[in-house]
Amino acid sequence: MPLLAIVYFSISGTTERLAHAMARGADGMAEIAFCRIVGDDIVSGRFQNESLLESIDRAGAVAFGSPTYMGGPAAQFKAFADASSDRWSKQRWANKIAGGFTTGACAGGDQLHALTYFSILAAQHGMLWCGLDIPGGEDPSDRNRLGSQLGLATHLVDGTLPQSDVSTAEYLGQRLAKMARRNG
Ligand SMILES: Cc1cc2nc3c(=O)[nH]c(=O)nc-3n(C[C@H](O)[C@H](O)[C@H](O)COP(=O)(O)O)c2cc1C
Repeated sequence: MPLLAIVYFSISGTTERLAHAMARGADGMAEIAFCRIVGDDIVSGRFQNESLLESIDRAGAVAFGSPTYMGGPAAQFKAFADASSDRWSKQRWANKIAGGFTTGACAGGDQLHALTYFSILAAQHGMLWCGLDIPGGEDPSDRNRLGSQLGLATHLVDGTLPQSDVSTAEYLGQRLAKMARRNG
């Protein structure tokens, strides 16, 4: 069974809920490594959690997740990304499947920019990007309700994460696991 590494930063728990939904979706198709980035991983501005990076070394698929902060991924996620540059120079993560997920306070809160960043990070590493194959506005259960095909974009409605966003996260987790198996 391939390993799906879910690498994410979350303060108030929404991105973490999405991470767990992705894991549920991949259940039975992939082993899961939750790789939560925490503030203590960053020492004097540098991300220093080597064991988290080693989990990704072993993965067949990687999901990058962060809340959208000021129109992009949170600084803590960027610190992790910068610390992956040693792997980049050897293309250590090349050919792994990669996908991304984010959340924000607003429906149009520039989540796309965070997802674009994740896809560029994946491209830098020679990873194979996997978006959503659910056409926005066409799904009977309203998955991908924001019409974001690059990856999972969500936002809180009246302070709550809609069930359709949780279902989209489950679907993306399943899709990443499926692609990792196919990629062998
Ligand atoms: C510093 C900061 C910047 C933020 N910037 C944005 C933003 O650009 N767009 C947006 O929609 N939401 C923005 N938000 C809201 C967060 O994305 C939102 O609260 C999210 O649910 C937090 O995720 P978490 O629960 O996983 O910590 C911002 C929040 C903070 C604290």
